[in-house]
Amino acid sequence: MRNITVIGTGYVGLVSGSCFAEVGNRVICCDVDERKINMLQSGVVPIYEPGLEDMVARNKEQGRLHFTTDVGAAIEASDIVYIAVGTPMSETGEADMRYVMSAAKKIGEHLNGYKIIVNKSTVPVGTGELVREVVQANKMAPWATFDVVSNPEFLREGSALSDCMNMDRAVVGSDNPEAASAIAELHAPFNTRVFMTDLESAEMIKYAANTFLATKISFINAIANICERVGANVSDVAEGMGMDSRIGGKFLQAGIGYGGSCFPKDTYALAHIADKSGYEFELLKSVIRTNQKQRMLVVDKLREAIGSLAGKRIAVLGLAFKPNTDDMREAPSLTIVPELLRAGASIRAYDPIAAEAASRLLSDEVMYADSVEAAVVGCDACVILTEWSDVVGMSLAQVRTLLAKPIIIDGRNCFSLDEMEREGFVYHSIGRRPIGAVNAERQSVNF
Ligand code: UDX
Repeated sequence: MRNITVIGTGYVGLVSGSCFAEVGNRVICCDVDERKINMLQSGVVPIYEPGLEDMVARNKEQGRLHFTTDVGAAIEASDIVYIAVGTPMSETGEADMRYVMSAAKKIGEHLNGYKIIVNKSTVPVGTGELVREVVQANKMAPWATFDVVSNPEFLREGSALSDCMNMDRAVVGSDNPEAASAIAELHAPFNTRVFMTDLESAEMIKYAANTFLATKISFINAIANICERVGANVSDVAEGMGMDSRIGGKFLQAGIGYGGSCFPKDTYALAHIADKSGYEFELLKSVIRTNQKQRMLVVDKLREAIGSLAGKRIAVLGLAFKPNTDDMREAPSLTIVPELLRAGASIRAYDPIAAEAASRLLSDEVMYADSVEAAVVGCDACVILTEWSDVVGMSLAQVRTLLAKPIIIDGRNCFSLDEMEREGFVYHSIGRRPIGAVNAERQSVNF
């Protein structure tokens, strides 16, 4: 059992803090955001993550998990201090380091003995060193000592608890073997491999892993675009490729590209880090461009299927950047919905969890429905942007009768071509041949 303080109660801080408490440590999660801490103290979790509210409640009740705005006191009370604050994308695309630096300053001011300072935020290579300098420069107690460790996180939103409790590997980077061992030991209950390395390499692993996954997605999306032109089926291509254990089948799902709080931010950040280091990462820049272009494909396909969008009623299914989250950060819907509105369409959207968050970001013209069926009724076409289970599991027969025209543009390849053909849809997906009329308006198909 260790006393751990986690600075930052965003996604990473809250999930990691709760999981450390779950395996028996005493954890204090702190944040300068009073509203967030008040919510957490009263048992309300400010983010949507399956299972997290129960885990927080259980550990709070059993006295292992505490929340406070008193960051200084929390630092003083623990021997391991995690920095898990945000590193948002700045105007230039670089990671904005101001929250990491202010956390380091605060740690320096409240260092009251030996502490291990662990960085979990995604930070440019060299930040560990910078944290060390800032802590040292702000140290009030001359006798206090510390080591800095990098321990990046690899959680996926929507499955963060199981990712954390059954992690593939933990990466621990430090120049001090004792500090590294202490952080490695913290991971023993998670029954995982711990990969030990130096500080800079650990920081680089996080960026390299995320940008590699983003590269896999842009690669399969580029292959999908070729498949459409040469008559191949990208789902089969991906499956066949993925059977090669050197490639692996994961992250080869073609669609309208990646969004979320990590891939877009980390790809930009690494491109910047590379530029600054004097190396132009052309491959990564092309991954980013491919992703940006991919989003607009559904709009092109919709135009292909129904002609002009002016005056058309379009159902949009799924607004979050992926299923099982209410996170709208860099969601493709934020680009696609405004484009549909600009083209004169009216939008009725459905998302089981993210509708409220989306309504704060999208135009007031967007109407919201509380089910798939209520969204599609009377619409000229339906566009799928997120593969929520109730979208994938919707009754196609019912949706066919509810839509004014049975046209589905599927940005996430939720259905097989055979079933869409059987159900009589005009169906355009990504990287697969279109089903039904190519232009329903021009060819006046009988529905
Ligand atoms: C990601 C990383 O997976 C995680 O390790 C890191 O810590 C944070 O970033 P997350 O953003 O939660 O996690 O989502 P993830 O499930 O990885 O998906 C990211 C995006 O890629 C989503 O928009 C998803 O729709 C898209 N995606 C994923 C694809 O388009 N195709 C795929 O095959 C996989």
